[in-house]
Amino acid sequence: MTDKRGIHTPNRRTLLKGASAMAAFAALGRFPTPAIAQGAPLRVGFMLPYSGTYTKLGKFIDDAFRLYVEQKGGRLGGRNVEFVQVDDESEPAKATDNMNRLVSREKVDVVVGTVHSGVAMAMAKVARDTNSMLIIPNAGANAATGPMCAPNIWRTSFSNWQPGFPMGKVMYDAGHRNVMTITWRYAAGQEMVDAFKENFTKAGGKIVEELYLPFPQVEFQPLITQIATKKPDAVFSFFAGGGAVKFVKDYAAAGLKSSIPLYGTGFLTDGTLQAQGADAEGIKTTLHYADDLDNPANKAFLAAFKKKTGQDGDVYAVQGYDAAALLNIGLSAVGGDMAARDKMIAAMRAAKIDSPRGPISFSTAHNVVQNIYLREVKGGLNRYVSIAHAALADPARGCKLSS
Ligand code: BEZ
Repeated sequence: MTDKRGIHTPNRRTLLKGASAMAAFAALGRFPTPAIAQGAPLRVGFMLPYSGTYTKLGKFIDDAFRLYVEQKGGRLGGRNVEFVQVDDESEPAKATDNMNRLVSREKVDVVVGTVHSGVAMAMAKVARDTNSMLIIPNAGANAATGPMCAPNIWRTSFSNWQPGFPMGKVMYDAGHRNVMTITWRYAAGQEMVDAFKENFTKAGGKIVEELYLPFPQVEFQPLITQIATKKPDAVFSFFAGGGAVKFVKDYAAAGLKSSIPLYGTGFLTDGTLQAQGADAEGIKTTLHYADDLDNPANKAFLAAFKKKTGQDGDVYAVQGYDAAALLNIGLSAVGGDMAARDKMIAAMRAAKIDSPRGPISFSTAHNVVQNIYLREVKGGLNRYVSIAHAALADPARGCKLSS
């Protein structure tokens, strides 16, 4: 069968055959290594949103991963690289089939994906069941490097807890005591709000009310009216991509920008500033990246990304670039032989990457240990203000991996 994107779709019998073969590999403690011959190209499967509200996020991850590969002469760990793309549409209901397609039908060596936490959870389950290599270049679902953690599951972005938690102290220290929260009701929004609340209430702050709407809806007006009526000291929010653009513009249009300060995790204003314009000026957010980070890796990355795509890089591009860097470290340690699983994983665990976001390393749960920055939008850039929390590791609650 061939789907509307021209990608061959496995039938049910093929999928089941593939799944039992994968289970056998898992029992052997080896990665399924379909293209293991040293001369064979490494098959990288991108499972990313190429449509919907997160389209730009997926595209930037894809572009930056390819940029890194190009900078290495088209090779990772000495092997030529070829790509397969699947549009996951940020649709959790389709995620298991899409992931199985890449692993069983397309026989990729590694899956890189995705952006949406709900989709990533389904991917992590398939990766665990089939012992396939998965590198998550955005989705922050805490469980992926918590209860679902596994030797073959890695993340080069953040856990949802990481950018949310430091904002609790930032907003309390700014004098805010009564805060409302607003986000989409799915894992990313819920977990970022929970992390913010954890730190804000510990400091003595009070949550006046939590507002939610279903992902990816953008009918913000009734909720913004509730904020105007309740008049909290400030608002904490998570939105990203196209939804973030509209939320920031609607908030300003409602006249709240100057009376009730809007904060959030940095996704609110990352990759969105051109479209948000003056309405985003002055918004403070916490994230593991800022546009003007003054380090050579960031300057070189932004210049190279601009040259390749004509666009300004952002946090999503950085995460995609670092996904390729991590894979390269693992593959280089084993001369491109992904069957040398233990050695490859040991090299990835020891990885220290001079990322555009600053120095990063990896926790026992395979999540990034990184600085979280306080940023402020000034002159159309997310500018560095301070380090909100240095070298922050996710608590990895429920992860059973040990070092
Ligand atoms: C998530 O679903 O995990 C997510 C999506 C966009 C930005 C940040 C997190």
